Amino acid sequence: MTAGQPLAVAVDRSSSYAPEPEEAGAGSRMLTATRYARGFFDLQLQFAKTVSTLSGLPLDRTLLEYTNFYIRFGLGRDFDAANPGWQEYLAGLGGAGDHSEWTRQFYASRGRTKPPPSVVATFGCFSYARLGTDRIRLHFQNAEPDGRSPLGRACRDQRLIELRALFEHAKRTEPQPLWVVGASWLYNLDAYRRLFPEPYLATAHPFPGCFQHMPLWGQFVDRHGDVRTDMARQFRERLEQQSTLDRLDRCFPLPVLRLEALVEEFCDFYDV
Ligand SMILES: CC(C)(COP(=O)(O)OP(=O)(O)OC[C@H]1O[C@@H](n2cnc3c(N)ncnc32)[C@H](O)[C@@H]1OP(=O)(O)O)[C@@H](O)C(=O)NCCC(=O)NCCS
Repeated sequence: MTAGQPLAVAVDRSSSYAPEPEEAGAGSRMLTATRYARGFFDLQLQFAKTVSTLSGLPLDRTLLEYTNFYIRFGLGRDFDAANPGWQEYLAGLGGAGDHSEWTRQFYASRGRTKPPPSVVATFGCFSYARLGTDRIRLHFQNAEPDGRSPLGRACRDQRLIELRALFEHAKRTEPQPLWVVGASWLYNLDAYRRLFPEPYLATAHPFPGCFQHMPLWGQFVDRHGDVRTDMARQFRERLEQQSTLDRLDRCFPLPVLRLEALVEEFCDFYDV
C-alpha cells in the first residue's frame, strides 16, 4: 500500500440510524451521481410484475417493496406509499401504455438520489454510517474521477488508502468496542474482497430480501450505469423459471452477503 497522502474527507455529524444500502451518502458531495440506464429499470419492472402475478399483490405495492425505484427517484428511504412523488409516478404509470418509457421519463425528470441520513464521514469511494451504539456500516460508491474502474487493480492502492483513513477516523472518534458491518453483492467479487481483512471476509453469509436496495440490484450495472448484459440475461432466465414466491432471491446471480468484525481486525490490516 502506498504511504498515506492527503485525502478529501467529508464529515456529517448525524447520528441517526437507518438500514441503508452500501452506497456512499451525505459526505459524497464531491461525486457526480451515476445516471442509470433504462434497462436497469426494466429489469426491476419485470421483477415487480412477476412478483405481482405470483403473489396476487397489486403492482403498485410490488413496485414499492420489490424494486429500488423509490430510492432512485430521490424520494428518500421511508418507502411511504402516500409520498406525493411516488403517487405521481404511479398515476403516470396507470395512464401509460409503455411502462418502461414512463419510468425512464419519470427518473430523468427527478433530481439526484437523497443520501442516507446516517452517514458520518466519506473517504473517496467509502463512507460509514452509525448503526446503533456499537456498530458502523460500510458504504461504497464509485468516486473515481477519470472513468477507471474503482475496483480495478490499478486503483487498489487508492482504495486501501481510503479505507485506512476511514478506519483511522472511526477508531479515533467512535466509542469502543466497535463492530463493523457490511452487506452487499460486491463481497462476491475478488476485486472487492481483496480490499478487506480475512477474518471479516470469513464471516460472510447470505442476507436475503434486500429487494429495495442497491446492495442487491447493483450487480446489474457497470460503473457507467449501463446494464451488464450477461447478468441481466441470467436474471431473466431465472425469473422465467420462478413459479412461486419462495426464495425469490435465487433469481439474482449474486447474493447479498453480510459480514461483521471488530474494528481491530481492520486496524491491523490497514496498519492504523
Ligand atoms: C461496483 C461497480 C462500480 C463495478 O463496475 P465496473 O467498475 O464497471 O466493473 P468492471 O467491469 O470494470 O469490473 C471490475 C472488477 O470487478 C469484477 N466484476 C464487476 N462486476 C462483476 C460481476 N457482476 N460479476 C463478476 N465480476 C464482476 C470484474 O471482473 C473486475 O475484476 P478484476 O479486476 O479482478 O477482473 C458497478 O457495478 C456499480 O457502480 N454498481 C452499482 C453501484 C453498486 O453496486 N454499489 C454498491 C452498493 S452496495
